[in-house]
Amino acid sequence: MSTTAPAPATKGLEGVIAGETEICNVEQSALIYRGYEIADLAANATFEEVAFLLLEGHKPSPEELKRFTAELVDARDIPEEAKSFLTHSANLVKNHSGVPMDLLRTAVSICGHLDPDCQDNSADANLRKAKRILAQVPTIIGHMQNNIDGRDFVAHDPDLSHAGNLLWMMTGEKPTAEAEKVMDVSLILYAEHDYNASTFTSRVIAGTLADMHGAMTGAIAALKGPLHGGANEAAMDMLSEIRNDIGPDNDTGKITDWMHKAFEEKRKLMGFGHRVYKSGDHRAPILHGLGRKAAEARGPEFVRLFELGETVQNIMETDKKIYPNVDFPCGMTYFTMGIPVPQYTPIFVASRVSGWAAHIMEQHANNRLIRPRAAYSGPETRKWNG
Ligand code: CMC
Repeated sequence: MSTTAPAPATKGLEGVIAGETEICNVEQSALIYRGYEIADLAANATFEEVAFLLLEGHKPSPEELKRFTAELVDARDIPEEAKSFLTHSANLVKNHSGVPMDLLRTAVSICGHLDPDCQDNSADANLRKAKRILAQVPTIIGHMQNNIDGRDFVAHDPDLSHAGNLLWMMTGEKPTAEAEKVMDVSLILYAEHDYNASTFTSRVIAGTLADMHGAMTGAIAALKGPLHGGANEAAMDMLSEIRNDIGPDNDTGKITDWMHKAFEEKRKLMGFGHRVYKSGDHRAPILHGLGRKAAEARGPEFVRLFELGETVQNIMETDKKIYPNVDFPCGMTYFTMGIPVPQYTPIFVASRVSGWAAHIMEQHANNRLIRPRAAYSGPETRKWNG
C-alpha cells in the first residue's frame, strides 16, 4: 500500500515554526525573555530574577524574589545516592570515558528517582521540581569537580547567589564580586533561547507526558554536542589549538594562515555561526565585553587570549561574514576565570535548566504529542522471501 508522503521540511527543520511559546522570542532584531530584551536583563537583573521570570511568568516583587531565593538555597542539597555516584567522578573521568556533561546527566537522573514529585506532572509539582533541579545542578557540578580535584566536598554557602555559590562549590574559593557578576551575567545570557535543540528535545519528551527529570536528562544529552552547548568548550579547545600551532605571539600572519587552512579543510570553527542569527548573536558582545574586562584585571596572558580571539573573529567576519555566537566569548571568559574547560557546558546547564523547565511546564499545560512525519526515501516495497 502506498501513501503520499508530505513534502519534506527543510534539512535541520530550518525556518520551520514547530510550535508556539510565551517564553522567549529569538530574532535577528532582538532576543526577548517574556517581553524583556536581553541587554536590559543583562544590565539590570540578576540570574535569580531572570529564573523567576522564566518559571513564574512575571518580574518578581521584592517579597517574591526573597521567597524564591530562599527556596533555591534550601533546595541545594542533593540526595546521598547522587553524592555517592559523584564520589566516583574522578575515576570515571580519569580511568574511563566519563565527561562532566555525562556525569551531570546521570546525577540529574538519580535526583529524579529520589524526588518526591518525580512522577507527578501537575503544574505545582512541576514548579517544585524546577526549583529543586535548578538549585541542585551547581551542587552536582561542585561535588563532581571537587572529586576530580581530590578535594573534600565543599558545602554550599547560603549567603552566596546561584552564580557565586556555583563558583564557590566548584573551586573551593570564595569568588570576588567581579567574578560573581561575570558568572551571573553569563547565566542570564544562557538561560533561554526558544526552540533550540535541547529545549525542543525537552518539549518532545514532555509531550509524551513523561516527567520533568526525564525531559531534563534528554535536554542535557542534547546540549552536550559541539554544534550546540558543547561549543563553549570546543571554542576554547580551538583557541588552545591555535595558540599551540602559532606559538606565544599573536602574529596576525600566522593566525590568518591557520584560519585559511581551516577554511580550505572546510572545518567548522567552533563558537561561530548560528541558525537564526546570521549577522550576529546579541549575547556575544555582552559577554565579550565583560570577559575582556575580567582578562584585563587578571593579567597580560589573559588579555593575549582575548586578542587572539578578536583576530580570529575579525578574519571570520571579513572573509566569511560569519559572526561569533555566545559560546565564543564564553570559552575565553570562563578560561580567564580559571574554570576547568570540561565544566563550561555543565555551567550552561546550571542556567538553561530554568528555560527548559519553563518549556516543559508550558508543554504539559497545553499538551499535544509532538509527532512529525518523515518523507520516506527508502526502497520500494519488496518481499522478504523473494
Ligand atoms: N565555521 C565555518 N563555517 C561555518 C560555520 C562555522 N562555525 N558556521 C556556518 N558555517 C558555514 C557553513 O559551512 C555553510 O557554508 P556553505 O554554505 O558553504 O556550505 C554556511 O556557513 C551555513 O552554515 P550551516 O551549517 O548550514 O548553518 P546551520 O544553521 O545548519 O548551523 C551551526 C548552525 C551553529 C550548527 C553552525 O554555524 C556551526 O556548526 N557552528 C559551530 C558550532 C557552534 O558554535 N555552535 C553553537 C551554536 S549557538 C549557541 C548554542 O547553542 O550553544
